[in-house]
Amino acid sequence: MGKDKINELPGVGPAIAEKLTDSGYIDMMSIAVSSPKELSDVADIGETTAAKIIQAARRSADVGSFETGVALLERRSKVGYVTTGSKSFDELMGGKGFESQAITEFFGEFGSGKTQIVHQICINVQLPEEKGGLNGHVFYIDTENTFRPDRIKQMAEAYDLDTDEILSKIHVARAYNSSHQMLLAEKVNELSKEFPTRLLIVDSLTSHFRAEFIGRGALADRQQKLNKHMHVLLRWGDLNNGLVLVTNQVSSKPDAFFGDPTRPIGGHIVGHTATFRLYLRKSKGGKRIARLIDSPHLPEGEAVFSVSEKGIRD
Ligand code: GTP
Ligand code: MG
Repeated sequence: MGKDKINELPGVGPAIAEKLTDSGYIDMMSIAVSSPKELSDVADIGETTAAKIIQAARRSADVGSFETGVALLERRSKVGYVTTGSKSFDELMGGKGFESQAITEFFGEFGSGKTQIVHQICINVQLPEEKGGLNGHVFYIDTENTFRPDRIKQMAEAYDLDTDEILSKIHVARAYNSSHQMLLAEKVNELSKEFPTRLLIVDSLTSHFRAEFIGRGALADRQQKLNKHMHVLLRWGDLNNGLVLVTNQVSSKPDAFFGDPTRPIGGHIVGHTATFRLYLRKSKGGKRIARLIDSPHLPEGEAVFSVSEKGIRD
């Protein structure tokens, strides 16, 4: 359901529809689960009008249904894995690498290897299953203009792969601001029906949000949008049995509004929605350390890996 449907809700004219979509209310569900206060703030309407719009959205939203434990187990048995390129990193993730139907978040300082890892997975996901891949296409939302096709080429050559074929299965879009980023994520839901897509990357998840929502007053708004954005990503992962990888920079400089400098941006919202959180840091001699912080079924731990000419290795 897109913008057109929102337009059809009683009380929603083009101007209100635009404000809603700009703020990330892109489908019936997002409106159905919002509060009158929230909606009245973002769309500049009275709370009574907002309440009526929410009621109408609830009537037409497909709220989903309950699944039995058996069905959930069946879905869980289909989880796919993509190798990281490093044995020790794979071990940290349970043996086979990153999982589908999940969001994996990489957070760490500049240069800690976040972008290098997601580049590597763009290639690894295209490998056949027996080589640690899922035979899939990739959608890459690039917010910092750091996607490098030549680096992909270099990593693919290290595996003796056809570099043109690898590049032809990576679909990259530049996101100019946070609203654009949110819309692109929504669009991937439609576009990925055209290709067997198993990987969605957002590098960086938080940079636009951090730049645009400044100060205490903007915090609630920012968190709310990040929350919506992450749920779109999570839903994509479930529907496509795909991997979602997101990056999140932490600054070594104390941030005026976040006392703890090692706290990733997005705090609780990002942390609770991500299925796996990995903290990356630089170590001696070009080595990198990944620390698994949060995981539903794996022990916490660390892995040492390297970023070499060939890519991510032990
Ligand atoms: P920010 O996006 O700035 O937060 O950093 P990041 O965590 O995304 O860092 P990124 O993944 O870009 O890591 C950059 C580091 O990877 C560089 O400092 C290099 O050490 C390494 N690196 C990048 N490209 C190459 C390459 O072609 N060869 C080798 N050997 N290392 C590379
Ligand atoms: Mg980066």
